[in-house]
Amino acid sequence: MYKSKITGMGMYVPKRIVKNEELTKYMDTNDAWIRERTGIEERHWVQTGDGNTTSSMGTAAAKIALERAGLTPKDIDMIVFATLSPDYYFPGSGVLVQEQLGCDTIPALDVRNQCSGFVYALATADQFIKTGMYKNILVIGSEVQSTGLDLSTRGRGIAVIFGDGAGALVLSRNEDENDNSNILSSHLHSEGKYAKELTNLVPGGIHPPKELVENWPEDDFTYYPYMNGNFVFKHAVTRFPEAIMEGLNANNLTPQDINLLIPHQANLRISQFVQKRLGMKDEQIMNNIQKYGNTTAASIPIALTEAWEQGRIKRGDLVVLAAFGSGFTWGSNIIRF
Ligand code: UT7
Repeated sequence: MYKSKITGMGMYVPKRIVKNEELTKYMDTNDAWIRERTGIEERHWVQTGDGNTTSSMGTAAAKIALERAGLTPKDIDMIVFATLSPDYYFPGSGVLVQEQLGCDTIPALDVRNQCSGFVYALATADQFIKTGMYKNILVIGSEVQSTGLDLSTRGRGIAVIFGDGAGALVLSRNEDENDNSNILSSHLHSEGKYAKELTNLVPGGIHPPKELVENWPEDDFTYYPYMNGNFVFKHAVTRFPEAIMEGLNANNLTPQDINLLIPHQANLRISQFVQKRLGMKDEQIMNNIQKYGNTTAASIPIALTEAWEQGRIKRGDLVVLAAFGSGFTWGSNIIRF
C-alpha cells in the first residue's frame, strides 16, 4: 500500500459578490436574520455572460492546484469531480475538465454526493493511489447553484444560503519513507430514507424535463431545491461529531490532536456547535462561510485552500475534513498533511 499526499490546492470563485443587502431586493429577508441564523455576510454568484460554469470554475481551481504541485495536466492519471450542479444532465463535468485542461484520455469520474461530495471524492481518489493504480489524481469540487435558486420570498430559506465556487487538490503517491504525509483514513455513510428532506426532485428520471414545458402545474415548485431546514440541522449537529470521532478513534487520536478541522461550510452555527461538542479551540477550526456561503461540494476544498494560503496548515499537521448533507450522506477524512 502506498501513502497519498496532498501536493497542491487551488480555488476559484466568480467575481460577483452578492451581499446580504442585495438579496433584500429580491425577497423578504434581511441582513440581521441571515447573519444570525447562518453566519453568512456575502457569497459569490456567477453573472450572465461571465463565462463561468461548474466545469470551467473546476478547471480554473485545478490549474492553480497543478501549478502548486509542480505538475502539468499530462501528469494527471485521473479526475474525480464532485458536484450537485453539473453543466449538463449528462455527461458529467469531469470529462469537460479533462478536455479543458488538455489531459490525456484519462478516466474522469463524477461523484454525486452533494455536500459530502468532496469527502467522498477524496476517499475515492485515495483508494486509487493507495493500491498503486494511479500516481496523481485531481480531486475537484465545483458548484453553480445561484442560477437554480428560487429568489422569491418563497425560496428564502434556501436562496440566502448557497454560493458558487470551486476548489481542487492534487493527490499524489508519496513514496518517501521519511515523509509521513498521508490520508490516514476515510469514513463514509448514507441514510437514503431522508433523501427528500434536502432535494431537488425535478427534473429527473421520474419527472423528465419535457414535463416542465408540457402541462406543469403552476403551483408546483419542485424544480427548485427544497430543504427541511430544522430537520437537516438536527441531523447535521449529530452526524458531524460522529463522523469526526469515528475517524479519530480509528487512528487513536483525540479532538485535541487536530491542528485544523475543516467542516463543510453548511451553517456557522453548526460548526460552532460541533466545535463546542468536541471541546475544540477557535484556532482549531476553519470557518469561511461568512464570505462564500454554502458552496456544497466546493466548500471544503475552498476552505482547505484558503487555510493553507493563510498559513494555517503546515506539513505534518493533523487536518480533518468532515461533511454532512443531502442524501443524507456524511463522512470524514483524517489527514496527516
Ligand atoms: O449543506 C447541507 C446541509 N445543510 C444544512 O446543514 C443546513 C441546516 N439548516 C439550517 O442551516 C437552518 O435550518 C436554516 C439556516 C436553513 C434556517 O434557520 P432556522 O433557524 O432553522 O430557521 P427556520 O427555518 O426555523 O425559520 C425561522 C423563521 C421562519 O419564520 P416564522 O415561521 O418563525 O415566522 C421562517 O419563515 O425565519 C423565517 N425565515 C426567514 N426570515 C428572513 C426563513 N428564511 C428566512 C430568510 N430571511 N432568508
